[in-house]
Amino acid sequence: MSAARPFLKWAGGKTKLVSAIATTVPVTARRLVEPFVGSGAVALNLSLPENLLADTNADLVAAYTRLRDAPEEFIAECAGLFTPEANSPAVYYQRREEFNALADPARRAALFIYLNRHGYNGLCRYNARGGFNVPFGRYRAPYFPRDEMRAFHSLLRRSTLVHADFRDVLAQAGPGDFVYCDPPYVPASPTANFTAYARSAFGPAEQEALAACCAAARQRGAVVALSNHDTPQTRALYAADDECHELLVRRQISCQGANRTKARELLVVYRPAA
Ligand SMILES: C[S@@+](CC[C@H](N)C(=O)[O-])C[C@H]1O[C@@H](n2cnc3c(N)ncnc32)[C@H](O)[C@@H]1O
Repeated sequence: MSAARPFLKWAGGKTKLVSAIATTVPVTARRLVEPFVGSGAVALNLSLPENLLADTNADLVAAYTRLRDAPEEFIAECAGLFTPEANSPAVYYQRREEFNALADPARRAALFIYLNRHGYNGLCRYNARGGFNVPFGRYRAPYFPRDEMRAFHSLLRRSTLVHADFRDVLAQAGPGDFVYCDPPYVPASPTANFTAYARSAFGPAEQEALAACCAAARQRGAVVALSNHDTPQTRALYAADDECHELLVRRQISCQGANRTKARELLVVYRPAA
């Protein structure tokens, strides 16, 4: 059976890896903890009875909170933004400006869904001042994900939503929890700009802190799975005795469908000692 699709487009979305991740979930798991939830593709498909879903993207967590608390009102509000006239650069840039100036959380959450489906490649990117700065996407007829939003709402009814850093979220994991970590990846190759990576918001220090938090959660009784590129650096980061699945993942590297490549990824699993 093919995996259910989340309603948001999200860089690094894990819809295609869900079946591999599902094989690592212990039968005893009662709760999913996802510190890097993004589009929620994993939580949506694992369907655990309870979920702790977290991310540092405040707009993402606010949109999920609005969908959880007022589903039909929010869906109707978003649907009203998806008109043929609104699929133009003029309306897009006017709404982007409105979004960046807005304090009203309800309107901001609805505009976030509009920007996600009308912006370039579904990217979510901000400038140094925190302004959303993705250009217009030029799609023929952006799809309004009504059914996908309703399906996501039933996941959210079983979920606690948190706007927090991964360290605070992993600290809450213990016995009965399955934790899935999908952080921003280390660069795939040495040719990638390492200087920029070292200074990025998720650089080597964060990757090391994440590996330590995963090991600590395992010590407290949680089972933890984590995705990253397969590089010498990540092999060194995750202890040799951890369960390590090697995956070849099809990647789209540009908006042209033909321009695809396969990347080597690791799915590392930390299991508590029996
Ligand atoms: C690769 S994406 C996750 C994609 C997700 N698995 C999916 O299927 O859509 C990484 C996510 O980590 C979030 N993030 C970045 N730094 C973070 C941090 N320090 N703590 C928690 N989340 C963070 C980003 O906002 C982004 O949503």
